[in-house]
Amino acid sequence: MCGIVGYVGEQHPEKVLIDGLKKLEYRGYDSSGIALMGQKDVQIIKSVGRIINLEETLKKSKIIDSNMGIAHTRWATHGGVTEANAHPHKIGKVTLVHNGIIENANVLREELKKEKVKFNSETDTEVAVALINKYYDGNALYAIKKATSKLKGSYAFAIMFDGDDKLYAIRKDSPLIIGYGKGENFIASDIAAIINYTKDYSLLAEGEIAILDKEKIEVFSDGEIIKKKIIHSNITSLDADKCGYDHFMLKEIMEEPKVLDGLFKRYSDFSLLPDITKYKEIHIVACGSAMYAGIVGASLIEEKCNIKCYVECASEYRYKKVIYDRKTLVILISQSGETADTIAAMRKAKDEKIDTLAIVNVETSTIARECDKALFIGAGVEVAVATTKAYILQVAMLSLLVIRATNDKKAMEEAKKIPGEVNNILGEREIFEGVAKDIYKARDAFFIGRGIDYAMCMEGSLKLKEVSYIHSDAFQAGELKHGTISLIEKGVPVFAIITDERIKDKTESNVVEVESRDAFVYTITNDPEVPNHRFRYVVPKVSPYFQALLVVPVLQLIGYYTAKFKGLDIDKPRNLAKSVTVE
Ligand code: BG6
Repeated sequence: MCGIVGYVGEQHPEKVLIDGLKKLEYRGYDSSGIALMGQKDVQIIKSVGRIINLEETLKKSKIIDSNMGIAHTRWATHGGVTEANAHPHKIGKVTLVHNGIIENANVLREELKKEKVKFNSETDTEVAVALINKYYDGNALYAIKKATSKLKGSYAFAIMFDGDDKLYAIRKDSPLIIGYGKGENFIASDIAAIINYTKDYSLLAEGEIAILDKEKIEVFSDGEIIKKKIIHSNITSLDADKCGYDHFMLKEIMEEPKVLDGLFKRYSDFSLLPDITKYKEIHIVACGSAMYAGIVGASLIEEKCNIKCYVECASEYRYKKVIYDRKTLVILISQSGETADTIAAMRKAKDEKIDTLAIVNVETSTIARECDKALFIGAGVEVAVATTKAYILQVAMLSLLVIRATNDKKAMEEAKKIPGEVNNILGEREIFEGVAKDIYKARDAFFIGRGIDYAMCMEGSLKLKEVSYIHSDAFQAGELKHGTISLIEKGVPVFAIITDERIKDKTESNVVEVESRDAFVYTITNDPEVPNHRFRYVVPKVSPYFQALLVVPVLQLIGYYTAKFKGLDIDKPRNLAKSVTVE
């Protein structure tokens, strides 16, 4: 997901802008750039790779005198990872950075080429710049409105016009905020980028145009100036700091006991939780780890509430024929609350007048704002691209919904001890470092389990593959022999999750099958009777509501340490983004 920062004020813009881009690195990117508005011209500096490369280029450049600029981290969608395709882009008098996808860019590009517009990149973004420039005759507001009325798709733009000492911002689908400083003002993709300068910000709503100079911010909606609600952020710059850990991913795993404790305390009052028993059917829709959290939750909903519960990845759900019943609930799970596919799935349900419930982390996000009801997991800022604490809290939130539905007070008593149990497990993390050392040279790894154990396998497998780049798959244990067992050979790591006592012997027999083919078997179980093969770790046995909360942190740590042994960029794995706000 791209990152945007804009600044106008008394400071040197390049310092504020680079600082902001660094706070947005977690979103995932492959190039970056900065544009500074000078007295006479615009200076644009871009580079491929990490922001450190941009800093090096800045150091070698003569930086113009400026008090206004825009900057960008690009996660390539249209056009390769090249300096020419990096943002900012400038055509004529207009300089712009963009997060999103212009879906009708090719058509518009051909039309503009006929009008002799010269493009310097392969990006969809440059089409937007050219269009705004086409309509710009000195009236920026008109040019922006006219040009964006022709765009299809998603965009968040920060824009500068030659000779104009103001910054302009507009968004559709991609998030964008305006930050209020003293004698300076900001544009950013999210508050983390500017938290060192201000905690006060407003969310730009669809179609609003913000005009910023160093003294004031004006927001226009349909040509009228409107008053915006100012939000005071409670995150600190510490949230964007590793606090002594080698990586954000480990820091965020280690925060799991604290944030779990906070969640259970906050929602011990059942009245804060919706009653899902009034629904006949529940659809859980999400992407990536959020979807895998949903699969754990769905297993609990069906087992404990006898409500039919489907889990679907949002990218499929948004296009498939969904049969709704008046008593259907659609639950959207999303850490960022800005994942494009999940937003589309939410809007699909809302268009059908179906009740929507959000389980999100970012309280000001699109999904949080547009769902009928939102439950906030309170994970704090999660910087590492591979989610850990947010996943754990998503599972815990779904468990709370089930506990509320069954009014299971005993379970709430048990919940009190879960953070401590997680803390004890994290305290033994060097054991899992040992497992990582055993497997980090593997080419493939497999995770097998049945029922809710299989749901945990999915997250464990995703965690390993996304940070260590080891090919990994999760399989229903009983399914392995129908194909994938052909891949089992000497030394292939197979993780067996065995916590459901009703079927533990079945999974154990699958373990024996793979071990008889010389696989290395690592068992995570809650039953000391389950045999130890190459490695076995026994977590405390707790009710099914909470068992995943003890097992998955083990798998998260194994993924983390495996990537660490491989010396990889753990917090920013290649090609991945923290939240994919484009389709
Ligand atoms: C991926 C992230 O891009 O999106 C995952 O790397 C995440 O960690 C998935 O689970 C969904 O994102 P979100 O913000 O909707 O939970």
